Amino acid sequence: EEDRFVNELLSKMTLEEKVGQLHQITSQWNMTGPAPNNEYAKAHEENLKSGRVGSMLNVIGAEATLNAQKLVVENSRLGIPLIFGYDVIHGYQTMFPVPLGEAASWDPGLLELSASIAAVESAAAGLHWTFAPMMDVGRDARWGRVMEGAGEDPYLSSVLSAARVRGFQGEDLSDKNTIAACAKHFAGYAFAESGKDYNTVDVSNSTLHNVILPPFKAATEAGAATYMNSFNIIQGVPATANSYIQRDLLKDKWGFEGFVVSDWNSIGEMIDHGAAQDLKEAASKAFAAGNDMDMEGYAYANHLQQMIESGEADTGYLDEAVSRVLRIKYRLGLFEDPYKYSDTLREKNTLLSPGNRAAALKVARESIVLLKNENSILPLKKDLKSIAVIGPLADDKDAPLGNWRASAISNSAVSLLEGIKAKIGDNTQINYAKGCDLVTSERGFAGEISFNTEDRSGFPEAIAAAKKSEIVLLAIGEDCYQSGEGRSQANIGLRGLQLELFEAVKKANPNVVIVLMNGRPLAIPELDEEATAILETWFLGSESGHAIADVLYGDHNPSGKLPMTFPRSNGQVPIYYNYLSTGRPGPKNEVFWSHYTDETNDPLYPFGYGLSYTTFSYDKITVNPNDNGMIVSAMVTNTGEVQGTEVVQLYIRDLVASLPRPVKELKGFKKVQLIPGESKMVEFTLSEENLGYYDNDGNYVVEPGLFSVMIGGNSRDLIKTNFEWNKAPNL
Ligand code: IFM
Repeated sequence: EEDRFVNELLSKMTLEEKVGQLHQITSQWNMTGPAPNNEYAKAHEENLKSGRVGSMLNVIGAEATLNAQKLVVENSRLGIPLIFGYDVIHGYQTMFPVPLGEAASWDPGLLELSASIAAVESAAAGLHWTFAPMMDVGRDARWGRVMEGAGEDPYLSSVLSAARVRGFQGEDLSDKNTIAACAKHFAGYAFAESGKDYNTVDVSNSTLHNVILPPFKAATEAGAATYMNSFNIIQGVPATANSYIQRDLLKDKWGFEGFVVSDWNSIGEMIDHGAAQDLKEAASKAFAAGNDMDMEGYAYANHLQQMIESGEADTGYLDEAVSRVLRIKYRLGLFEDPYKYSDTLREKNTLLSPGNRAAALKVARESIVLLKNENSILPLKKDLKSIAVIGPLADDKDAPLGNWRASAISNSAVSLLEGIKAKIGDNTQINYAKGCDLVTSERGFAGEISFNTEDRSGFPEAIAAAKKSEIVLLAIGEDCYQSGEGRSQANIGLRGLQLELFEAVKKANPNVVIVLMNGRPLAIPELDEEATAILETWFLGSESGHAIADVLYGDHNPSGKLPMTFPRSNGQVPIYYNYLSTGRPGPKNEVFWSHYTDETNDPLYPFGYGLSYTTFSYDKITVNPNDNGMIVSAMVTNTGEVQGTEVVQLYIRDLVASLPRPVKELKGFKKVQLIPGESKMVEFTLSEENLGYYDNDGNYVVEPGLFSVMIGGNSRDLIKTNFEWNKAPNL
């Protein structure tokens, strides 16, 4: 039926209308206001009315989308509806933790939940399509967009990205509570050299196939409706014009049925790459390589029709690209009712509803990671006489909303101070002091950030607050726009006066609990050394303060685990747990082995790390073959005083392979809840598919031989055994 519909419609379309379907423009005027009056916007209005535009981005709200849709459906010859896209990255108006934070929950069910709520809210606001999830596996914390992904591991990213796709899209794309997902950025964007955004990517075939591509393949398997390519050059070719990854792999080998959209003018940027002499050549290369829709690049709109007419571009490719776009519009149900998403009443009742906020609180709590807890200073007692709440982020109601905040209302998050007040009421004297500003610039998506490096006028008040309190909570970290697109940093330590503030406060009161807010791993060895406790809270979204207070006071026992390694210093970056062994891995002599002379090889906190208010022990690791592969199990015991949840992690190492394999590779994880003294046997199945890898041609191979298998609560502290895999490959 779908194919019949699409083919029939295609057969009625003129060349101009076909090209129109591949042209995506951003919002050009206020769609809820009067018709445009400047020439530029008027020309866009004319294009919309005559079917020369297939999609818009950044038109938001039920009323605006309804108006734009009417313009197209009521005026164009065939009335083919627009598809409206927007960056709904971690919530639409109810904000969830930034994706890296959510990933720390290691809970696909929760990510599915948050994506589904983001979808419900976006759909009510008339949107059909989110440019998410970003599934770029990121090993370099200097790159600001690690905030938008699921961290450094291909397995964890695959599981979590697939969950997000399911959350956005649900079972049925035509349901008016679901929206189309977009697997981005295809591919390699996070491997920008030196962590600098948009920079060239030059990785081995092994890294491409084993690290970068698996989440994208998982997204196809989860039914992702669309893909977005990326700004970078990869293996010498701009990703936008990379026919190997877009046509050969995605469309042919994986069987992806939806469409690929370019990133914002990434076709045009091929001129700057030196890959095309003008926009026409760029259009030609991107089109031939399988880039279906052109986002705000005007490359297809200006050149494709003429290229088809002159035979320079392939008609078959054109029909294929247009069919892909129509197919997704069909699946969204837009041909049945192009207006069904735009519903002002539904929009009013849905956005920031109490139920959505409750879900945001739940996800936020699970995303918090306890990094240090000396002398069990946490959880705090509710009957403390006094507590100081200090720091530039302590009463910030905006920062927790993070970057890429879609339609979040500025200052709508619960601040840490508010969360503490709501938790303890009048029981405890709260001594608040900001201490210092973090930034001096206006907060926002665009514009350079300048940090406060001079104004210490708030220090005395902070010191006084610390002195008269039993315990200090110090909220520091990053400005919410410090991580995100275009926000690469050569230095990933604490900026501005924050370390100085910490030292000053610490001198006044040694019991300092750091509440970190940030979108990337930070190099904070000083805090690790001197603070009593550190709670990693990322940018937790609308319910931030409540979630943090729940954890600080022990109403929620933290169980988050780091999805990305924290380095000790900038020079260690990129640092990640699943590296290949060098030929000189250990200190065989003092000098000539793989190490730094001025820094250890160890990270500050390893991948998978996170503490609890209880402790867990691991023993009795065993491996037994069964029909499906190997059953690996280990006994996990709660050895502490309170109930807790542990993310039990399974790693393998293929000890000898045709192509060397990493020293550790995550292959499974399970969240288990244990009461004090309780033990559970946790069991994993390692299938043949878990034991193989991609060779340099992208073929999946499984080789017999000796494997190590490791289980534990982080990627460093593991118990281990070995087993022999000798079954004939059966894939
Ligand atoms: O979706 C984004 C992308 O991640 C970066 N460039 C702009 C796009 C649309 O806003």
